[in-house]
Amino acid sequence: MANEHTLPELPYAMDALEPHISKETLEFHYGKHHATYIAKLNDGIKGTEYADKSLEEIIMSASGPIFNNAAQTWNHSFYWKCLSPNGGKVGGDILDAINSKFGSMEKFEAEFSAAAVNHFGSGWAWLVVDKNGEIAVTSTHDAGNPLCDGQTPLLVCDVWEHAYYIDYRNVRPNYVKAFMGIVNWDFVNEQYKQAKQNQAA
Ligand code: FE2
Repeated sequence: MANEHTLPELPYAMDALEPHISKETLEFHYGKHHATYIAKLNDGIKGTEYADKSLEEIIMSASGPIFNNAAQTWNHSFYWKCLSPNGGKVGGDILDAINSKFGSMEKFEAEFSAAAVNHFGSGWAWLVVDKNGEIAVTSTHDAGNPLCDGQTPLLVCDVWEHAYYIDYRNVRPNYVKAFMGIVNWDFVNEQYKQAKQNQAA
């Protein structure tokens, strides 16, 4: 039985992130771009060794268009969960880890924002747990996913132009600033807790 990949439900209404991210951006970004990656993934894996594999298994073993569409599917599903209309308020264990690693929330935001703003071309800025169990800021090109480098994603910012061009045109720094204001830190804390539990297991 082939494993049909489906577009996950958006965890909020299309207009819920306004004025930071507009309804029109979500209609295109979620409704067209993300949906198309999934449709192309389903088409691409038909009749191949990847047809029955989970998304993570495909990401860890495929290359070329199948990898690209699988990783873009995963990255976008994760990105939507990283945002919330009630976001922006950080606390819990991740705040302790950020203070310990970066010195302060402000210093972390500066480093994460720089990774997002300065990333050349299409890609993603991430907060991850690295192989040593430490949190770290990193970025990946195109469809790249930190899972392939043995890292556990905690937070991601999509810096492909399609993520911000409708709302911010060429001014990526304004999009990244708006993004930081609606980060769902409850979700990030959950990912951090799970990453630590998996490491302890
Ligand atoms: Fe995107």
